[in-house]
Amino acid sequence: MKFTKTFPLLLSAAGAIGGSAALAEDMKLPSPEEQEVMAPNEDELIAGIQEVVLQRMRDTYPGDKTMKRDAHPKTHGLAEAKLVVEPHLPAEFRQGIFANGGEYDAVVRFSSSSQMVTPDVVQQPQGMAIKVLGVEGPKILEGFEDATTQDFVMINHPTFFVKDLDSYLTLFQAQVGEPEELKKWAEEHPDSVQTIGAMIAEESYNPAGIQYWSQTPYKFGDRVAKYTLRPQSGASNERPDVMLLTYQREYLVDTLKEGEVRYEFLIQLQKDVEKQPLENPMVEWMVEDTQPIRVATLIIPQQDISPEENLKVAEDMSFSVWHSLEEHRPLGAVNRARRPIYKAGAEQRREANGVEDMSEPTEVPNVNGEDG
Ligand code: HEM
Repeated sequence: MKFTKTFPLLLSAAGAIGGSAALAEDMKLPSPEEQEVMAPNEDELIAGIQEVVLQRMRDTYPGDKTMKRDAHPKTHGLAEAKLVVEPHLPAEFRQGIFANGGEYDAVVRFSSSSQMVTPDVVQQPQGMAIKVLGVEGPKILEGFEDATTQDFVMINHPTFFVKDLDSYLTLFQAQVGEPEELKKWAEEHPDSVQTIGAMIAEESYNPAGIQYWSQTPYKFGDRVAKYTLRPQSGASNERPDVMLLTYQREYLVDTLKEGEVRYEFLIQLQKDVEKQPLENPMVEWMVEDTQPIRVATLIIPQQDISPEENLKVAEDMSFSVWHSLEEHRPLGAVNRARRPIYKAGAEQRREANGVEDMSEPTEVPNVNGEDG
C-alpha cells in the first residue's frame, strides 16, 4: 500500500514527534552492521552480475555507437534543482546532509529502466537520480574521499523485484539462455514476477508527477532507513491522448517550462527488524508501521531543458548510491553489489565514449546548453 493514497496528512515533523513514543523500543534494534548478512559466495555472485552487465553493454553498443547505461539508458531529462533541508528536525532525523537546515545545489536525472532504449508507449519502471552538490565531509569511495557530492537513486515503486543476488544472477543467466530457463526461473520466483508486473503497471506518464522510492535501505546515522520522494507541486500525471516515442520527455520539458516542481524528501526509519528487514528489498516497509517523515524539499525551478545538449550532459554523467557520506552508507547485498558494478559500468561508458569523469562535479552542470 502506498502512503500517497493512505496517509496524505500524516507527513509532518509533528508526526515525527508523535512517533517518538516508539523510540525506546527502537533503541533495542541491532546496529546496521549487525544486520548485514553476506552470503558465502557473495563476491562470486557480484562478479558474475558485473560480467553480464559489462558484456551486455559492449554487445548492445558495438563500434563507435555511443555506449549507454546497462540499466536506465533512456534519459527523459536532466534538471537543475535545490535541496532545502528542514530547519527544526527531531534529533534522530538530523543525520548526514540533513543535520542542519539549509540549501544545497543539486542536479536530477529522470530515466526509463529497460535495458534497451524503447519507445515510451512500452510502459517501463521510471528512475530518478539526484546528485547533491557542495556536501562537505569524507566520502566512502576509495579515491573520492574528498568529493563533495551525495547521490540518491530511486525508482517509481516501493520494492525491488528480487530478494537477493542469487535470484538476480540466475535471472540474468536465464535471460540469455533457452526460453525454458526463463520459464523455470519465473515458476521458481512468483513473487518477483508479481513485483515486476506491479512495477510496470505503475501509472507513470509524467516523470515530474510521480513518486519515487529508494527500494533498498541506507544508514541514517546509526539507524537503518529507506527514502522516498513524493510530488508536492501537483504536476499532472494524466495519461496523454497521444503517446509519441519520447512523450515522457516532452511531458517533463513542458512541465518545467510552465513552472517549478517540488518533491517532499521523506525518510522511513526502521523500527522492527522483522517488518522492515535490511537484507530483503522485496519487503515493503509499510507506512502504518513506520511513518515517512519529511526531512527536506527538492525544488526543481522553472527551466528550459529542451535543448539536445541536455541529453548529452545526462549521458556523460553517472550516479551511484556509493557516492555517499558514511552517515548514508548503502546497506544490504543488493546495494553492496551496486558498489563495484555502477563504478565499472560508468568507467566502461566513459572510456568507450571518450568523455571525462562527471560523477563528482563541483558546480551544477550546464543542463540547457546555454553559455556560462
Ligand atoms: C544488484 C542490483 C542492481 C544492479 C546490478 C544495477 C545495475 C545498474 C547499472 C549498471 C546502472 C548504470 C550505471 C552507469 O552506467 O552509470 C544502473 C543505473 C540505475 N539503477 Fe540500478 N542496479 C541495481 C539495483 C537497483 C535498485 C535497487 C534501484 C532502485 C532504486 C536501481 C535504480 C537505478 C537507476 C534509477 C539508475 C539510473 C541512474 C542514473 O540516472 O544514472 N538499481 N543500475
